Amino acid sequence: MSEVNQALALIESGGDNLKVMITLEVLHMSILVTGGAGVIGATVVKQLVAHGAEVVVFDLRDDRSLLGNVEVPIECGDICDKSLLVRVMRCYGVEKIVHLAAVMPDWAQENPFEASRINTWGLVIVLEAAREAGIARTVFTSSKAVIGRVAGPHMHPDYAPVSEEIGTHPYNVYGATKLAAEVLGKQLALESGLDLTVLRLASTYGPGKTVRHGKVGILSAIIEGAFRGESVRLPSGADLRNDFLYCKDIAQAVIKALAAPHTGFHLCHIGSGRLASLTDFVIAVRRGIPYADIEIGAGLDYGGGAGQYFRMDIQAARDILGYDPEYDVEKGVADYVQTISSQAEV
Ligand SMILES: NC(=O)c1ccc[n+]([C@@H]2O[C@H](COP(=O)([O-])OP(=O)(O)OC[C@H]3O[C@@H](n4cnc5c(N)ncnc54)[C@H](O)[C@@H]3O)[C@@H](O)[C@H]2O)c1
Repeated sequence: MSEVNQALALIESGGDNLKVMITLEVLHMSILVTGGAGVIGATVVKQLVAHGAEVVVFDLRDDRSLLGNVEVPIECGDICDKSLLVRVMRCYGVEKIVHLAAVMPDWAQENPFEASRINTWGLVIVLEAAREAGIARTVFTSSKAVIGRVAGPHMHPDYAPVSEEIGTHPYNVYGATKLAAEVLGKQLALESGLDLTVLRLASTYGPGKTVRHGKVGILSAIIEGAFRGESVRLPSGADLRNDFLYCKDIAQAVIKALAAPHTGFHLCHIGSGRLASLTDFVIAVRRGIPYADIEIGAGLDYGGGAGQYFRMDIQAARDILGYDPEYDVEKGVADYVQTISSQAEV
């Protein structure tokens, strides 16, 4: 029996080794990661390579700073250049795609046309290129921003988990571009028989989320500012609770979405499976960086507005992908600090 068939047999029988086996299918594959030079991309690339996959990155920037010593080809280009994408897919014999390339909320707000070109049409072009190159499966990262602000029991103090059934009411250009991508992507996948899994991410943090990310990089800004010996001051937000999702859990979700036996369109909320306060987060940072000088004022908001902090219901991701998040804030921050410490030593 091939490794893939063994994996599928185990999945069907619900075997104990499911976690290990589910990654086996990925081991010998050629995978294209768009946006692979970015924060989540670099983490996904490193984990895919660790699982034995052959990875090619497609990104606007030839920047290896977050990739550490992982040697993968970076093909530079714009995500909307379909003929280049098809050439890259054929040249590397790409079998599956992780589509992460996107622009971030602050920039999107200032550049709505370009943002919709990259964030929305980018997915359409990736799917068209995939169809042309004969690639069945794409995994796409969407955002909690498509949901917008929650209300009622989903807000503080109850934080009832938010499932995929909730309505979508984006409040900024970024959220609108991601929602349009979800809708168009679903339509194309259903019409053309492509497999598309959309992962809607909670509030994320990971090494490097300080350069392009503006306000949404606040968690990384706290850690990396403290690490550099800067005083970190926020006027309010210490009491808010949120679902803080570490980049390595996102990578796990992406890899499981690549390997899952399902076909067709799937939408899964991806969170940490936990709630933590910003104070819990700061305590974890102080533990990892004993000299950290951080003060955050009381209150429920660090600037995003009420209703923006909520907890993802990850049951669908558990059921469909076998997703099982490993990083609470303590473990995530410890791993983060270790990563930037080793980068600083190089
Ligand atoms: N909570 C959330 O909602 C959330 C949080 C983080 C990321 N995300 C999503 O995850 C993905 C990765 O985000 P990230 O945090 O790693 O961002 P990032 O900015 O670190 O990485 C994005 C990468 O895309 C590349 N890129 C941008 N425009 C491009 C273009 N036209 N052609 C080719 N490449 C281009 C950038 O150079 C960058 O390397 C994005 O799709 C983002 O929308 C969602």
